[in-house]
Amino acid sequence: MTAPRYDVLGIGNAIVDVIARAEDDFLVAQGMHKGGMALIDEARAASIYNAMGPASESSGGSAANTIVGVASFGGRAAFIGKVKDDELGKAFAHDIRAARVAFDVKPATDGPSTARCYIMVTPDGERTMNTYLGAAQDLKPSDIDEATIASAAVVYLEGYLWDPPQAKEAFVKAAEIAHKHGRKVALTLSDSFCVDRYRGEFLDLIRKGTVDIVFANEHELRSLYETADFAVASVALQKDARLAVVTRSEKGCVVITPDAIDAVPAMPIDSVVDVTGAGDLFAAGFLVGHSQGKDHRTSARLGALAAAEVIQHIGARPAVSLKALAAENGLVL
Ligand SMILES: Nc1ncnc2c1ncn2[C@@H]1O[C@H](COP(=O)(O)OP(=O)(O)OP(=O)(O)O)[C@@H](O)[C@H]1O
Ligand SMILES: [Mg+2]
Repeated sequence: MTAPRYDVLGIGNAIVDVIARAEDDFLVAQGMHKGGMALIDEARAASIYNAMGPASESSGGSAANTIVGVASFGGRAAFIGKVKDDELGKAFAHDIRAARVAFDVKPATDGPSTARCYIMVTPDGERTMNTYLGAAQDLKPSDIDEATIASAAVVYLEGYLWDPPQAKEAFVKAAEIAHKHGRKVALTLSDSFCVDRYRGEFLDLIRKGTVDIVFANEHELRSLYETADFAVASVALQKDARLAVVTRSEKGCVVITPDAIDAVPAMPIDSVVDVTGAGDLFAAGFLVGHSQGKDHRTSARLGALAAAEVIQHIGARPAVSLKALAAENGLVL
């Protein structure tokens, strides 16, 4: 096995975030489920955009945010996802490359426009998302380059890839290549409604060992095992997974291995501005630690540090160097 060229390669929906503040009443009037991610069509996208307040655009996408976080920690990072050859697509590609992430997927020249996610941030800092998948739907197995996958220590996949029809095949192809080359595969369950849509398939991936590392928040974990009881769900996941990390917002996370369920606290912070990206950046920190051979608790602390940074400002990508932040906090990489 040759030494990996990348620490983490992410595969996910390439999305531009359109972020605005909103009152809870707005979510109710629009029939949006607070804290969730809903898929919308182009007409609904236009109607939400008309109704929402002043918005700012920034490159996003769950796995893409994680990969930018990995690069900010000084990790070697690459991303695979599909944009269109339009203004938003160019912005997405520019931003991810400017963050020192390798991104070589050819943009689509026809078909739907680059994906957008309308994100409503309520006064409590919670985010509610509506995604128009657009060009991201066209990610297909031929976009998965064997040499690139083979050269990454960990391939990180988002559960949201189960929504675009061919992306699922791309996901499975990437996981097979990774394992053929002795690499690891990580999966985030993405969203509790996403788990609801694909529960059986996700459980299958975990139980069959297609996935080595599972990331979930507690809502996703409960949805996976259809129980309200966190302890019951954690023990169920312990039986199914080799390594899993379940995040619990301000309560931190638990790292689950066959031997232990180990709680690691969150970083205390003064006030939450926008939780968008908390889970994504947590995964970035954990994966960087893991790929550098740190113990699970240290990796979880790196995750908590990155998540704490991203929730103290608007937007889902780090505003400072996470490598420098880690050093300030005595976590040397
Ligand atoms: N209020 C908070 N205070 C401190 N840390 C927090 C807080 N909320 C989230 N975090 C940090 O972020 C991590 C992930 O949070 P959470 O479990 O809410 O993920 P998530 O629901 O996937 O987030 P996202 O909104 O990005 O989908 C937590 O483990 C914790 O480290
Ligand atoms: Mg999340």
